[in-house]
Amino acid sequence: MKDLKALVAQMTLEEKAGLCSGLDFWHTKPVERLGIPATMVSDGPHGLRKQDEEGDHLGINDSIKAVCFPAACATAASFDKELIGKMGEAIGDSCQHEKLSVVLGPAVNIKRSPLCGRNFEYFSEDPYLAGKMSAAYIKGVQSRNVGTSIKHFAANNQEHRRMSSSSDADERTLREIYFPAFEISVKEAQPWTVMCSYNRINGVYASENPWLLTDVLRKEWGFEGYVMSDWGAVSDRVKGVAAGLDLEMPSSGGVNDRKIVEAVKKGELDEKLVDLCCERILNIIFRYRETMKPETPWDKEAQHAFSSQIASECMVLLKNEGELLPLNKADAIAFIGEFAEKPRFQGGGSSHINSFKTTSALEAAKGLKITYAQGYSAEKDEATDEMIAEAVKAAKAAKVAVVFAGLPDSYESEGYDRSDMAMPACQNRLIEAVAAANPNTVVVLHNGSPVEMPWIGQVRAVLEAYLGGQAVGDAVVKVLFGDVNPSGHLAESFPIKLQDNPSYLYYGGEGNRTEYREGVFVGYRYYDKKDMDVLFPFGHGLSYTTFEYSNLRLSAKEIKDTDTVTVTVTVTNTGKRFGKAVAQLYVGDKESTPIRPVRELKGFEKVALNPGESKDVTFTLCKRAFAYWNEAIHDWHVETGDFTIEVGASSRDLPLKETVKVESTVELPRRYTLDSIFMDLMADPKAKAVLMPFLAKMRKTFSPDAEENTTEAAQEAISEDMSLAMMNYMPLRGIFSFGGGDPKMIDALLEKLNQPG
Ligand code: BGC
Repeated sequence: MKDLKALVAQMTLEEKAGLCSGLDFWHTKPVERLGIPATMVSDGPHGLRKQDEEGDHLGINDSIKAVCFPAACATAASFDKELIGKMGEAIGDSCQHEKLSVVLGPAVNIKRSPLCGRNFEYFSEDPYLAGKMSAAYIKGVQSRNVGTSIKHFAANNQEHRRMSSSSDADERTLREIYFPAFEISVKEAQPWTVMCSYNRINGVYASENPWLLTDVLRKEWGFEGYVMSDWGAVSDRVKGVAAGLDLEMPSSGGVNDRKIVEAVKKGELDEKLVDLCCERILNIIFRYRETMKPETPWDKEAQHAFSSQIASECMVLLKNEGELLPLNKADAIAFIGEFAEKPRFQGGGSSHINSFKTTSALEAAKGLKITYAQGYSAEKDEATDEMIAEAVKAAKAAKVAVVFAGLPDSYESEGYDRSDMAMPACQNRLIEAVAAANPNTVVVLHNGSPVEMPWIGQVRAVLEAYLGGQAVGDAVVKVLFGDVNPSGHLAESFPIKLQDNPSYLYYGGEGNRTEYREGVFVGYRYYDKKDMDVLFPFGHGLSYTTFEYSNLRLSAKEIKDTDTVTVTVTVTNTGKRFGKAVAQLYVGDKESTPIRPVRELKGFEKVALNPGESKDVTFTLCKRAFAYWNEAIHDWHVETGDFTIEVGASSRDLPLKETVKVESTVELPRRYTLDSIFMDLMADPKAKAVLMPFLAKMRKTFSPDAEENTTEAAQEAISEDMSLAMMNYMPLRGIFSFGGGDPKMIDALLEKLNQPG
């Protein structure tokens, strides 16, 4: 690797400022006299959207023919780190072939509401799952010596007013929910670049937020690459440089380059900060250039087949009453609904891929006894009476009717949010008509985010295919007919109705301010705490076989927060088919001072099992699995006590439960004042030890003639008083207001109470 400091030293201020913004839509600027090449970046995340000529970032101009893999809404449901890692490798190979230095993904923002227009591009409502899947993807791509750009950092959870809105959340909420997907990815996979988001966080644009881009990302998590802006996310470029935003994308037409130069010349910006940006950008440019391999083959047909395999591992069998699925290949089946012929397999906006081919379910099912009725027009958003009549006729004539439904393109896309969670009314009408005509009705869904299912009680099976990439039709047919046993599990809760969602009251915000008032209670963290019914819970997914979870074993029953504990469970395939289980581990704090979720996902593993086969799955839990973000110490903290460890097949199907005691090794700072109440003081053994003799002394002073007036007896009596609920809430000042109290003595007492150790 070149000596980058020496190289930067040779650059003029103008060249350096220039390197800090794009040449055009997709390239970094070259400095030819110094041998610094331009490098190209491109969307991402689930395939390449490389635009050679007139680039625009909204997908209006066509990009090169490429392979559209399943979107993150689908791949997350695979719960399969290895699989998404291999998908990353395939994308990395195509980047090498196309001379791309960085692919703009993965997108890891948390699904705060089902309404976010970009949910299809994001992994989960759960930060741990999103982080683990993202890290595996990053490792896969980067194993090919191509960079990734994890995005959109951070708290970019709505499309509504995305370039001006401020996501206002408290520190704990950001740390526990909105940051960990980035944190895990940075710590485990070191993405070459990070893309900062459009929005502000607590009033400060992500692109000029030193706390976010420098303190948290670099100093705490150890990020080593460069930060680029989302396209057009820069408001004040000079503030951005100071905050740690290295590269502005796309080009600012030279305007912001000049601002950087001026700010340095006027002494408003330290030139060293510009140098640092350049070093970081050059580090990645040369890392790519020195290992670039344009001779890497890009076998699109092989990737198409692989895309089908991935999609089939992602599909979630939501319902399968009386084992209607898998279907029998000898039976007459009606495929109903336009998506059977023209599947919806990707979302709109910057991730939109110009697929080199697509496979529909109708094509994939050629040779089987299939009839087809269009049922509705997705583009016109209508189902005419004739269409419904034709669908009903086909359903009646078939043994099983499969309705291919979901959300049309216009319903979810980058750039705007959905206004409700409903499927098109015409499709709901179609499903109801078909279900009335044939009791054996299956619904296959193509959507990027949860939908309400008013017809759920009328159909026997539902297969959630998500936006499964260009080969989705092939995968759907394989799953429907049992060539592949479904093994996807929901990476998000499906509420019964939109109003049930915890962010419902605040989502979208008021003007440019969106308050995250539900705090850490996002998705199942909320539904479980409220013990609410959901349509389908987080982690849910059926199979054509059955699994049993048994023999939960812990390596220790008591640990310190500096130790780890391993949890082992046996998973057995108790059915008749090969299948894959997703063993999920959740941790919950039995009693805690902070208000915490009932359970949180802290481990998952996909296990392939033949009929009758058993395998042990082992999880290792460390401090983070038990910790919450403590705002007083600005750090993770474990409160000493018992924690539940639950293992099973979904957040609501957890047959195994154990308890582990975790002891904290960290002493929280004591900040007692006269307003501190007895209950809190007594709960702290050290404070109690200080307070008791003092109280006993006071008692003796007030009633010197009391009978059994030894210090011990007084202490005992006080302890009894303390247990009275009324005393619990008495502030320390209370005892002084009754008995006067020497201010010097009070100060001395407080000092003692607040002493560490
Ligand atoms: C999107 C990014 C994307 C970029 C480049 C932006 O509008 O938010 O996700 O990578 O455009 O196309």
